[in-house]
Amino acid sequence: MSSRHLSRSTIISLSIFSFLACITFLKFSPNGENVLSWTTDTFDIDFTLDTLKPKPKLFSWEIDEDIKDHHTYNEREITKLRTCMNDNNCHRNQEKVVLAFAHTWPQAIIDGWRGGEGVWAMSMFRAMRELGYTVLIGMNGWEETLAHYRMFPDQVKVIIKSAWIDDCIKNPACIKSDINLTGIPRWKCEFSMNFFPDEHTRFGLDYKWIIHADRHFKGQEETEKLQYIGYSFEDECKNREFIPHKKRPMSSWILAKQATLFHLSTVETAFNKSYFELAGQETGLEEMTFKGAYQVNGEYMKGWIHDSPVESLRGVINLGKIGPERFSEELSNSRIMIGVGNPTLSPSPYLALCSGTPFLNPIKSWDSENPNDRSKWVSQHNYLKWLDPPYVYNVQAHDYEGFVNAIQSSISHPPTKKYIDPPMTLNEVRKRVERLVETDWKSIAKDYMQEKIAEGATYTWTL
Ligand SMILES: *[C@@H]1O[C@H](CO)[C@@H](O)[C@H](O)[C@H]1NC(C)=O
Ligand SMILES: *[C@@H]1O[C@H](CO)[C@@H](O)[C@H](O)[C@H]1NC(C)=O
Repeated sequence: MSSRHLSRSTIISLSIFSFLACITFLKFSPNGENVLSWTTDTFDIDFTLDTLKPKPKLFSWEIDEDIKDHHTYNEREITKLRTCMNDNNCHRNQEKVVLAFAHTWPQAIIDGWRGGEGVWAMSMFRAMRELGYTVLIGMNGWEETLAHYRMFPDQVKVIIKSAWIDDCIKNPACIKSDINLTGIPRWKCEFSMNFFPDEHTRFGLDYKWIIHADRHFKGQEETEKLQYIGYSFEDECKNREFIPHKKRPMSSWILAKQATLFHLSTVETAFNKSYFELAGQETGLEEMTFKGAYQVNGEYMKGWIHDSPVESLRGVINLGKIGPERFSEELSNSRIMIGVGNPTLSPSPYLALCSGTPFLNPIKSWDSENPNDRSKWVSQHNYLKWLDPPYVYNVQAHDYEGFVNAIQSSISHPPTKKYIDPPMTLNEVRKRVERLVETDWKSIAKDYMQEKIAEGATYTWTL
């Protein structure tokens, strides 16, 4: 099933992958950096000696402090690029251009927005800049994208858009086609950002054009249908002090920014509101304080609320609106972070783990005949369900005993160090970003297109 949508060359590379293991990861792009690859030409390259070469240096990625809008940022990058091309002294990768034209990018980079997609965009931006690429950013619409594409049509390697893009791609007069030879080629312009690894392609393009921020499966980053890029908290994690659990107060953190999350259906709200008060009467939990930081706003997700009025949780101290520093301090001083069912695939549990704080991950549904089959679990954090204590406690929704046991175990068997998911280091994100930019997408698109045409598909756009 999963190979149906991959080109033949991709399938071959993927199967070679499994036994050549990590050596085959190494491919050298013209600039000498190691690139992961899905295309077969990886295996033509003699990498044995090259792998001993020192890694090329990373460029600094931060933007000038006085920049207040993305136009100013772009103007400066364009000037730098034109000047270096003129003077023939561009640094490594500078002449390769990435257009990141989706609202998230200016919001994250210029306005400092750090929601899930913002965290992800920042990680990709950092990796691209560290590798030396010229990254231009903008909004999701076509005009601005097209104007920037026209400046450097051959140098633009990939164009990243949000999952919601307008109809230009459906229009042969807009995209590159037989009737519009100078339109933007779809294989270049259609990398769409989907935070969640959900499967949906657009007509006539492979799943690899969907890039995503997190996973449902463990160890399938390279073999999955879609393209995992991910984000990294490595810096934040390294800067954090690990506080041994016996020095922490008897305190647990409830993950929720909105009280509405305690008032959804019994599927979406994993634990009865009474659990927090009741748990305080259990052995070893008499001193436990439950804390959280959430808003009480009955308008939030109004249509989903099952029991009104939306109110604070009894037995939980609400710190209200807190900043990232306080949040981080609270996590480092908690015994466990408790999920209530939503938000799904939130970045916050990774921050808890890298403070050495375990996460209680509610399992919202499971196969009743094989309740231990994790592949069938739908959990709040569907990637972390693959981890076990002392880092992650997977607890079935509405299982009060399991809920209490997890908290008790987090006290008796706490983590003794921080945890960073290996695919989420800065270096791993950088490698995947480099592959995104360096892969020969045109040839992958061509293979895919030919397969589809052989199956009877018609294409209104050209490569
Ligand atoms: C080709 O597409 C671009 C937009 O992508 C548009 O500006 C241009 O007018 C189109 N040309 C033709 C001949 O349709
Ligand atoms: C939660 O527990 C209380 C008290 O045990 C009970 O009355 C209530 O119906 C439960 N709520 C849900 C949604 O199960």
